[in-house]
Amino acid sequence: MLEPVDKQAVAQRFSKAAQSYDQYALLQKEVGRNLLSLIPEKKYVNGLDLGCGSGFFLPDLQQLCNYLLALDISPGMLKQASLCDKAQGYVCGDAEALPLRSESLDLVFSSLALQWCHDPTQAFREIKRVLTSQGYALFATLNSGSLFELREAWMAVDNHEHVNQFMEELELRSVLQQAEIRCKTWQVQRHVMYYADVNAILQSLKRIGASQVNGQRSQGLLTRQKLQCLQQAYERYRLPTGLLPVTYNVCYGVLHR
Ligand SMILES: C[S@@+](CC[C@H](N)C(=O)[O-])C[C@H]1O[C@@H](n2cnc3c(N)ncnc32)[C@H](O)[C@@H]1O
Repeated sequence: MLEPVDKQAVAQRFSKAAQSYDQYALLQKEVGRNLLSLIPEKKYVNGLDLGCGSGFFLPDLQQLCNYLLALDISPGMLKQASLCDKAQGYVCGDAEALPLRSESLDLVFSSLALQWCHDPTQAFREIKRVLTSQGYALFATLNSGSLFELREAWMAVDNHEHVNQFMEELELRSVLQQAEIRCKTWQVQRHVMYYADVNAILQSLKRIGASQVNGQRSQGLLTRQKLQCLQQAYERYRLPTGLLPVTYNVCYGVLHR
């Protein structure tokens, strides 16, 4: 079981990052495009982008569905998403308690949102509940090992992880079993993003709203001295290209009832 998630903090941080999100969300764009390519080909009637963020994938989803809903826990992100005017409805809600009718959707798309849930089993139960018998749910989420360079560099600084906890692949599989939802496709892919320095890494996480919300958090501000120690500790990962890697392990799934 993961540590508790402060959902209000999640919503606030994403709202704060809503305007800068698209500029910095390079991994999210790569992952979302992969997830779109896994959608089984057919015409969908009612679709949902669950944890839609800034709405980056709404135009693609709109092409596939007659009626599209965008849902997010963050009011700021929803407001940003509504600017593209590609969905028929924008709902502020929680993936763990979807304010939607049972068996009302034949497509649920959720890219890099479910790792923010407190109880992923409950989120998958909800996804199953709202899916029709012919429907598909596609998700991409982060697994353990994601951001391992940053986690280890922080541990060397103050013995705190400063990075969210993510589930092991096996744990995620057992979550799906508990939620009694069936899996049609399962893929795990490693994505590595590259940055010039630690400041750029921290800046990009902040600008997409992805600060730590669960697990072992350190107290206190990021002082100049701590930042210098972090930079030094991260140096061991610097590549011959001169860049610093940030690794993400992404699990992709296509689910049905
Ligand atoms: C990293 S962003 C991904 C956004 C979008 N899917 C994309 O790929 O660009 C994660 C989004 O999930 C939303 N989120 C986090 N926890 C949520 C929850 N419990 N219910 C609904 N949305 C949630 C956040 O507000 C944020 O907009």
